[in-house]
Amino acid sequence: MIKRLLLSVMATLVVLSCASQNNQTENIGDKLSTMDEVIMSRRSIRKWQDKTISRDTLDIILKHGINAPNGKGIQAYEVRVIDKPELLKELSAAVAKDKPEVARRRGFKNIFVDAPCVVFIAAYDDYDLSQVDCGLLGENIILSAWSMGIASCCLGSSARMLNTSPSAAPYMQKLDFSEGYKLLYCIALGYPDEEPEAKPRKEEKIRYVE
Ligand SMILES: Cc1cc2nc3c(=O)[nH]c(=O)nc-3n(C[C@H](O)[C@H](O)[C@H](O)COP(=O)(O)O)c2cc1C
Repeated sequence: MIKRLLLSVMATLVVLSCASQNNQTENIGDKLSTMDEVIMSRRSIRKWQDKTISRDTLDIILKHGINAPNGKGIQAYEVRVIDKPELLKELSAAVAKDKPEVARRRGFKNIFVDAPCVVFIAAYDDYDLSQVDCGLLGENIILSAWSMGIASCCLGSSARMLNTSPSAAPYMQKLDFSEGYKLLYCIALGYPDEEPEAKPRKEEKIRYVE
């Protein structure tokens, strides 16, 4: 009797463990397809709806950002966020004062492609892989935002201009990056008002080595 009971308990455990393994596999599959959709549908956006991103949503996106892997665990970046379009316009006007040719570009609105929110990411001078940390942080921000319908555009040129524009210096002080940190790039964020086609990628960039 006891032997039969034990056998039946063991059989139940085997069935349960198989079922839970199958469930796990199915769940991982679900997550992968969501991730695939988020990654493959993301595009750089330069036209925005007139809609602000709530601070609660920004908090989640930024938390995802700083949970990216980072070298030696030292988080060799600093992050500042401006979600006031008026302040972004002021900052852009300061740059345009020094670089009027920028403002003459066709379709120019401001140096942040007119986004309602911009994340400023600074790299740390004293760590050789800080830019990797900054890139991983940024990609987490970009993908997290897109998973919630918020689009983005990385802006390297804006950072270059901000770092070299004397008129922008007071605003850079306001960003208040610590000693040793320098603005590396910006990420414009907002709700998208365009759906650009994907730009083709060069698959030959990837090669397996046997
Ligand atoms: C480091 C970096 C700097 C970039 N700088 C700019 C920029 O200054 N202005 C801009 O409009 N787009 C900029 N981009 C966006 C790229 O143009 C865009 O990612 C690329 O064309 C691929 O298009 P996709 O993001 O839609 O796939 C930058 C992207 C990266 C990663």
